[in-house]
Amino acid sequence: MTSPVLFHLDENTVLGKKIHKQLGCEMGKWELRNFPDGETYLRILSQVEDKTIVLVASLNQPDEKILRLLFFSQALRESGAKKIVLVAPYLAYMRQDKAFHEGEVITSRYFARIICQYFDALVTVDPHLHRYHALSEIYTIPCRVVHAASSMAAWIRAHVPQALLIGPDSESQQWVREVAQQAAVPYTILEKIRHGDEKVQVSIPQIEEWKDRSAVLVDDIISTGHTMLESIQQLKKLGVKRIYCIGVHAIFAGEAYNLFLKSGIEQVLTCNAIEHSSNKIDLSPEIAKSLGKLFGS
Ligand code: R5P
Repeated sequence: MTSPVLFHLDENTVLGKKIHKQLGCEMGKWELRNFPDGETYLRILSQVEDKTIVLVASLNQPDEKILRLLFFSQALRESGAKKIVLVAPYLAYMRQDKAFHEGEVITSRYFARIICQYFDALVTVDPHLHRYHALSEIYTIPCRVVHAASSMAAWIRAHVPQALLIGPDSESQQWVREVAQQAAVPYTILEKIRHGDEKVQVSIPQIEEWKDRSAVLVDDIISTGHTMLESIQQLKKLGVKRIYCIGVHAIFAGEAYNLFLKSGIEQVLTCNAIEHSSNKIDLSPEIAKSLGKLFGS
Protein backbone atom coordinates (compact mmCIF):
# COMPACT_ATOMS: atom_id res chain seq x y z
CA MET A 1 0.00 0.00 0.00
CA THR A 2 1.21 3.55 -0.72
CA SER A 3 2.04 5.54 2.37
CA PRO A 4 -1.03 7.32 3.81
CA VAL A 5 -1.42 11.08 4.05
CA LEU A 6 -2.21 12.37 7.52
CA PHE A 7 -4.28 15.47 8.21
CA HIS A 8 -5.16 16.67 11.64
CA LEU A 9 -8.19 18.79 12.19
CA ASP A 10 -7.01 20.35 15.45
CA GLU A 11 -3.87 21.79 13.95
CA ASN A 12 -0.61 21.23 15.83
CA THR A 13 -1.78 18.93 18.60
CA VAL A 14 1.07 17.09 20.25
CA LEU A 15 -0.72 13.81 19.60
CA GLY A 16 -1.29 14.52 15.90
CA LYS A 17 2.39 15.44 15.40
CA LYS A 18 3.57 12.35 17.25
CA ILE A 19 1.31 9.99 15.30
CA HIS A 20 2.58 11.57 12.10
CA LYS A 21 6.20 11.08 13.17
CA GLN A 22 5.64 7.48 14.15
CA LEU A 23 3.82 6.59 10.94
CA GLY A 24 6.55 8.34 8.97
CA CYS A 25 3.95 9.35 6.40
CA GLU A 26 3.19 12.50 4.42
CA MET A 27 1.61 15.37 6.34
CA GLY A 28 -1.38 16.74 4.47
CA LYS A 29 -1.58 20.47 3.84
CA TRP A 30 -4.80 22.37 4.10
CA GLU A 31 -6.20 25.73 4.99
CA LEU A 32 -9.06 26.02 7.42
CA ARG A 33 -10.53 29.20 8.85
CA ASN A 34 -13.76 30.93 9.54
CA PHE A 35 -15.31 33.59 7.40
CA PRO A 36 -16.29 36.73 9.33
CA ASP A 37 -19.83 35.37 9.62
CA GLY A 38 -18.57 32.18 11.28
CA GLU A 39 -18.97 29.86 8.31
CA THR A 40 -16.11 27.49 7.52
CA TYR A 41 -13.57 28.06 4.75
CA LEU A 42 -11.65 24.92 3.79
CA ARG A 43 -9.04 24.32 1.12
CA ILE A 44 -7.14 21.06 0.61
CA LEU A 45 -3.66 21.72 -0.72
CA SER A 46 -2.20 18.19 -0.88
CA GLN A 47 -2.66 15.66 -3.65
CA VAL A 48 -4.97 12.97 -2.27
CA GLU A 49 -6.10 11.10 -5.36
CA ASP A 50 -5.92 7.32 -4.86
CA LYS A 51 -4.38 7.78 -1.43
CA THR A 52 -5.40 6.47 1.97
CA ILE A 53 -6.09 9.37 4.29
CA VAL A 54 -5.74 9.42 8.06
CA LEU A 55 -7.75 12.27 9.53
CA VAL A 56 -6.96 12.88 13.20
CA ALA A 57 -9.62 14.74 15.15
CA SER A 58 -10.38 14.35 18.82
CA LEU A 59 -14.13 14.88 19.08
CA ASN A 60 -14.47 16.74 22.35
CA GLN A 61 -16.67 19.82 21.79
CA PRO A 62 -18.17 17.82 18.91
CA ASP A 63 -20.87 20.27 17.89
CA GLU A 64 -18.21 22.87 17.12
CA LYS A 65 -16.14 20.42 15.08
CA ILE A 66 -18.51 18.11 13.28
CA LEU A 67 -19.40 20.27 10.29
CA ARG A 68 -15.80 21.01 9.35
CA LEU A 69 -14.97 17.33 9.84
CA LEU A 70 -17.70 16.29 7.41
CA PHE A 71 -16.72 19.00 4.92
CA PHE A 72 -13.15 17.71 5.16
CA SER A 73 -14.18 14.13 4.48
CA GLN A 74 -16.49 15.10 1.62
CA ALA A 75 -13.78 17.22 -0.01
CA LEU A 76 -11.21 14.42 0.31
CA ARG A 77 -13.66 11.97 -1.20
CA GLU A 78 -14.43 14.26 -4.15
CA SER A 79 -10.70 14.78 -4.71
CA GLY A 80 -10.33 11.03 -5.23
CA ALA A 81 -9.13 9.77 -1.83
CA LYS A 82 -9.26 5.99 -1.84
CA LYS A 83 -9.99 5.41 1.83
CA ILE A 84 -10.55 7.81 4.72
CA VAL A 85 -9.72 6.62 8.22
CA LEU A 86 -10.93 8.76 11.09
CA VAL A 87 -8.68 8.74 14.15
CA ALA A 88 -10.91 10.16 16.89
CA PRO A 89 -8.96 9.55 20.11
CA TYR A 90 -12.00 10.84 22.00
CA LEU A 91 -15.24 9.62 20.51
CA ALA A 92 -18.14 11.90 21.40
CA TYR A 93 -21.77 11.11 22.03
CA MET A 94 -21.21 7.70 23.56
CA ARG A 95 -22.88 8.44 26.88
CA GLN A 96 -26.49 8.90 25.75
CA ASP A 97 -26.92 5.20 25.09
CA LYS A 98 -30.46 4.92 26.40
CA ALA A 99 -33.62 7.00 26.70
CA PHE A 100 -33.86 7.55 30.44
CA HIS A 101 -36.99 9.70 30.08
CA GLU A 102 -39.75 9.66 27.53
CA GLY A 103 -38.80 11.52 24.35
CA GLU A 104 -35.05 11.53 25.04
CA VAL A 105 -33.03 11.08 21.88
CA ILE A 106 -30.37 8.35 21.82
CA THR A 107 -27.83 10.62 20.17
CA SER A 108 -25.06 7.99 20.25
CA ARG A 109 -26.85 6.14 17.46
CA TYR A 110 -27.38 9.19 15.27
CA PHE A 111 -23.81 10.35 15.74
CA ALA A 112 -22.52 6.90 14.79
CA ARG A 113 -24.69 6.90 11.69
CA ILE A 114 -23.26 10.25 10.55
CA ILE A 115 -19.64 9.17 11.11
CA CYS A 116 -20.23 5.91 9.22
CA GLN A 117 -21.57 7.78 6.21
CA TYR A 118 -18.43 9.85 5.88
CA PHE A 119 -15.57 7.55 6.92
CA ASP A 120 -14.36 4.10 5.92
CA ALA A 121 -12.82 3.11 9.26
CA LEU A 122 -12.50 4.46 12.78
CA VAL A 123 -9.68 4.28 15.32
CA THR A 124 -10.51 5.50 18.80
CA VAL A 125 -9.29 5.26 22.39
CA ASP A 126 -11.37 3.64 25.15
CA PRO A 127 -14.80 4.71 23.94
CA HIS A 128 -17.39 4.94 26.71
CA LEU A 129 -18.98 1.51 26.44
CA HIS A 130 -21.56 1.08 29.14
CA ARG A 131 -24.85 -0.26 27.86
CA TYR A 132 -23.25 -0.97 24.46
CA HIS A 133 -20.74 -3.78 24.69
CA ALA A 134 -18.94 -3.01 21.45
CA LEU A 135 -18.80 -0.15 18.96
CA SER A 136 -20.12 -2.53 16.33
CA GLU A 137 -23.55 -2.27 17.98
CA ILE A 138 -23.90 1.23 16.52
CA TYR A 139 -20.92 1.71 14.14
CA THR A 140 -21.13 -0.19 10.87
CA ILE A 141 -17.61 0.66 9.60
CA PRO A 142 -14.52 -1.27 10.80
CA CYS A 143 -13.48 0.12 14.20
CA ARG A 144 -10.25 -0.38 16.11
CA VAL A 145 -10.17 0.42 19.80
CA VAL A 146 -6.91 1.45 21.41
CA HIS A 147 -6.73 0.85 25.17
CA ALA A 148 -4.92 3.23 27.45
CA ALA A 149 -4.61 0.61 30.21
CA SER A 150 -1.01 -0.45 29.63
CA SER A 151 0.24 3.14 29.27
CA MET A 152 -1.59 4.11 32.47
CA ALA A 153 -0.25 1.07 34.29
CA ALA A 154 3.30 1.98 33.22
CA TRP A 155 2.84 5.52 34.57
CA ILE A 156 1.51 4.23 37.90
CA ARG A 157 4.34 1.71 38.25
CA ALA A 158 6.91 4.44 37.61
CA HIS A 159 5.39 7.18 39.80
CA VAL A 160 3.19 5.80 42.58
CA PRO A 161 4.64 3.41 45.13
CA GLN A 162 2.09 1.31 47.05
CA ALA A 163 -0.89 2.22 44.89
CA LEU A 164 -4.49 1.18 45.40
CA LEU A 165 -6.52 1.71 42.24
CA ILE A 166 -10.06 2.96 42.65
CA GLY A 167 -12.82 2.95 40.05
CA PRO A 168 -15.58 5.45 40.83
CA ASP A 169 -18.45 3.40 39.41
CA SER A 170 -19.41 0.01 38.06
CA GLU A 171 -18.68 0.93 34.40
CA SER A 172 -15.11 1.79 35.33
CA GLN A 173 -14.45 -1.76 36.53
CA GLN A 174 -13.59 -2.94 32.99
CA TRP A 175 -10.55 -0.66 32.64
CA VAL A 176 -9.60 -0.30 36.32
CA ARG A 177 -9.26 -4.08 36.64
CA GLU A 178 -7.08 -4.15 33.52
CA VAL A 179 -4.83 -1.29 34.72
CA ALA A 180 -4.55 -2.87 38.19
CA GLN A 181 -3.55 -6.23 36.74
CA GLN A 182 -0.91 -4.66 34.53
CA ALA A 183 0.44 -2.47 37.34
CA ALA A 184 0.28 -5.46 39.73
CA VAL A 185 -1.62 -3.52 42.42
CA PRO A 186 -4.99 -4.08 44.16
CA TYR A 187 -8.17 -2.28 43.14
CA THR A 188 -11.65 -1.56 44.44
CA ILE A 189 -14.79 -0.13 42.86
CA LEU A 190 -17.05 2.51 44.40
CA GLU A 191 -20.78 2.79 44.06
CA LYS A 192 -22.02 5.89 42.27
CA ILE A 193 -25.51 7.33 42.09
CA ARG A 194 -25.89 10.16 39.59
CA HIS A 195 -28.60 12.69 40.48
CA GLY A 196 -27.90 15.07 37.59
CA ASP A 197 -25.15 16.35 35.24
CA GLU A 198 -23.24 17.88 38.15
CA LYS A 199 -24.56 15.97 41.16
CA VAL A 200 -23.16 12.58 42.01
CA GLN A 201 -22.99 10.58 45.19
CA VAL A 202 -20.41 7.87 45.79
CA SER A 203 -20.01 5.39 48.56
CA ILE A 204 -16.75 3.78 49.51
CA PRO A 205 -16.52 0.10 50.37
CA GLN A 206 -14.34 -1.06 53.22
CA ILE A 207 -10.77 0.03 52.49
CA GLU A 208 -9.35 -0.10 56.03
CA GLU A 209 -6.63 -2.60 55.05
CA TRP A 210 -5.42 -0.31 52.23
CA LYS A 211 -5.72 3.06 54.01
CA ASP A 212 -1.99 3.64 53.97
CA ARG A 213 -1.66 3.11 50.26
CA SER A 214 -1.78 5.91 47.67
CA ALA A 215 -5.30 5.99 46.24
CA VAL A 216 -5.31 6.30 42.45
CA LEU A 217 -8.74 7.13 41.08
CA VAL A 218 -9.01 5.97 37.48
CA ASP A 219 -11.84 6.86 35.09
CA ASP A 220 -12.32 7.04 31.35
CA ILE A 221 -13.77 10.56 31.16
CA ILE A 222 -13.27 13.54 33.44
CA SER A 223 -16.03 15.91 32.41
CA THR A 224 -17.51 18.10 35.17
CA GLY A 225 -15.11 16.28 37.51
CA HIS A 226 -17.83 15.68 40.08
CA THR A 227 -17.47 11.89 40.00
CA MET A 228 -13.84 12.13 41.02
CA LEU A 229 -14.18 15.20 43.26
CA GLU A 230 -16.92 13.49 45.27
CA SER A 231 -14.75 10.35 45.52
CA ILE A 232 -11.83 12.48 46.73
CA GLN A 233 -14.01 13.90 49.54
CA GLN A 234 -15.08 10.42 50.64
CA LEU A 235 -11.53 9.08 50.59
CA LYS A 236 -10.31 12.03 52.65
CA LYS A 237 -13.03 11.39 55.23
CA LEU A 238 -11.68 7.87 55.57
CA GLY A 239 -8.23 9.25 56.26
CA VAL A 240 -6.56 8.43 52.92
CA LYS A 241 -3.64 10.84 52.66
CA ARG A 242 -2.26 10.57 49.14
CA ILE A 243 -4.71 10.69 46.24
CA TYR A 244 -4.00 10.73 42.50
CA CYS A 245 -6.59 11.08 39.74
CA ILE A 246 -6.01 9.68 36.28
CA GLY A 247 -8.40 10.09 33.36
CA VAL A 248 -8.15 8.89 29.79
CA HIS A 249 -10.17 11.77 28.31
CA ALA A 250 -9.50 15.26 29.68
CA ILE A 251 -12.73 17.10 29.00
CA PHE A 252 -12.64 19.24 32.19
CA ALA A 253 -15.85 21.17 31.49
CA GLY A 254 -16.03 24.71 32.87
CA GLU A 255 -14.05 25.17 36.09
CA ALA A 256 -13.45 21.44 36.60
CA TYR A 257 -9.67 21.50 36.28
CA ASN A 258 -9.30 24.33 38.81
CA LEU A 259 -11.41 22.38 41.28
CA PHE A 260 -8.91 19.51 41.04
CA LEU A 261 -5.96 21.86 41.47
CA LYS A 262 -7.56 23.21 44.66
CA SER A 263 -8.61 19.80 46.00
CA GLY A 264 -5.41 19.05 47.88
CA ILE A 265 -4.62 15.84 46.00
CA GLU A 266 -1.13 14.85 44.90
CA GLN A 267 -1.79 15.10 41.15
CA VAL A 268 -4.46 14.97 38.47
CA LEU A 269 -3.23 13.72 35.12
CA THR A 270 -4.57 12.44 31.84
CA CYS A 271 -3.69 10.72 28.59
CA ASN A 272 -3.25 12.91 25.51
CA ALA A 273 -6.39 11.71 23.71
CA ILE A 274 -7.68 15.27 24.22
CA GLU A 275 -4.97 17.92 24.37
CA HIS A 276 -4.85 19.47 27.86
CA SER A 277 -2.21 20.80 30.25
CA SER A 278 -2.80 17.74 32.48
CA ASN A 279 -1.61 15.34 29.71
CA LYS A 280 1.18 13.13 31.05
CA ILE A 281 0.54 9.82 29.30
CA ASP A 282 1.32 9.61 25.60
CA LEU A 283 -0.93 7.35 23.53
CA SER A 284 0.65 8.00 20.14
CA PRO A 285 2.67 4.72 20.06
CA GLU A 286 -0.51 2.69 20.68
CA ILE A 287 -2.51 4.64 18.08
CA ALA A 288 0.26 4.40 15.48
CA LYS A 289 0.52 0.65 16.17
CA SER A 290 -3.20 0.24 15.64
CA LEU A 291 -3.05 2.19 12.36
CA GLY A 292 -0.12 0.05 11.27
CA LYS A 293 -2.25 -3.08 11.83
CA LEU A 294 -5.14 -1.53 9.92
CA PHE A 295 -2.82 -0.89 6.98
CA GLY A 296 -1.36 -4.37 7.29
CA SER A 297 2.21 -3.22 7.94
C1 R5P B 1 -19.50 7.87 33.44
O1 R5P B 1 -20.28 7.09 33.26
C2 R5P B 1 -18.06 7.98 33.04
O2 R5P B 1 -17.36 6.79 33.11
C3 R5P B 1 -17.41 9.02 33.91
O3 R5P B 1 -17.45 8.56 35.26
C4 R5P B 1 -18.17 10.31 33.83
O4 R5P B 1 -18.30 10.68 32.50
C5 R5P B 1 -17.48 11.40 34.58
O5 R5P B 1 -18.26 12.55 34.47
P1 R5P B 1 -18.08 13.76 35.45
O6 R5P B 1 -16.63 14.14 35.42
O7 R5P B 1 -18.96 14.83 34.86
O8 R5P B 1 -18.55 13.34 36.80
